[in-house]
Amino acid sequence: MLTPLVAGNWKMNTTLREGAGLVMSLRELIKGVDSVEILIAPPFTHLHHLSHLAADSPIKLAAQNVYWEKKGAFTGEISPEMLKDVGCRYVIIGHSERRQYFHETDETVNRKLLFSIKEGLKPIVCVGETLEEREAGKALTKVRSQLKKALSGIVVGTLKEVAVAYEPVWAIGTGRNASPEDAEEVHSAIKELLFDMFDTEFANSVRVIYGGSVKPDNMDALMAQPNIDGALVGGASLKAADFARIIKFQSQK
Ligand code: PGA
Repeated sequence: MLTPLVAGNWKMNTTLREGAGLVMSLRELIKGVDSVEILIAPPFTHLHHLSHLAADSPIKLAAQNVYWEKKGAFTGEISPEMLKDVGCRYVIIGHSERRQYFHETDETVNRKLLFSIKEGLKPIVCVGETLEEREAGKALTKVRSQLKKALSGIVVGTLKEVAVAYEPVWAIGTGRNASPEDAEEVHSAIKELLFDMFDTEFANSVRVIYGGSVKPDNMDALMAQPNIDGALVGGASLKAADFARIIKFQSQK
């Protein structure tokens, strides 16, 4: 059994003071939870301070993006080393908003992934189809192609830990989540692809988490699916009580 992974993607939300309040409330609300890995991905500017506030708690820090060079003349970018330096060990790569608004491509996602792994960060790589693609019956083809390209060139052995987030673009921030069965179909296709690309031991270790309008009232049903290993939560991760309820999901495989 894989340890479920629940990550909160704060996106471009919260002042530092609001973020600190959120962490302090969450710390209280999740006391005693030890069977779920918990991540928050606040804006870059909050990472340093929040990593102190989250110390000695199960809450770990993730970044929402990273660059693929160690250092240098890359105005506006942040390197893996800078993230590690402030206590951040995880990074979300290739979120659909990055692809849609900031022109990230399968190629740049792959570069970020390879460099993050090389530098010892644990990546969560996002894939997902648009509504048009789903309606045209191309969801699985799209997700497989994104994932194959994102993971190309990875040498197992150098890779300690990676998670995949399946986030159908049409379900993000829309209140419209994929049904647990639809999500499960894609999750199991992702796992099949992982078994094709990597050895069994490694493929078995990859958590495939679902994202797209995850809320306290749909988390239990999602987590009851055999191949859904956790959640990437946007809006609901900004409310401590909702995020805590999502972390404390109640379902059995
Ligand atoms: P949402 O966002 O939960 O607000 O739909 C999910 C995400 O973009 O990671």
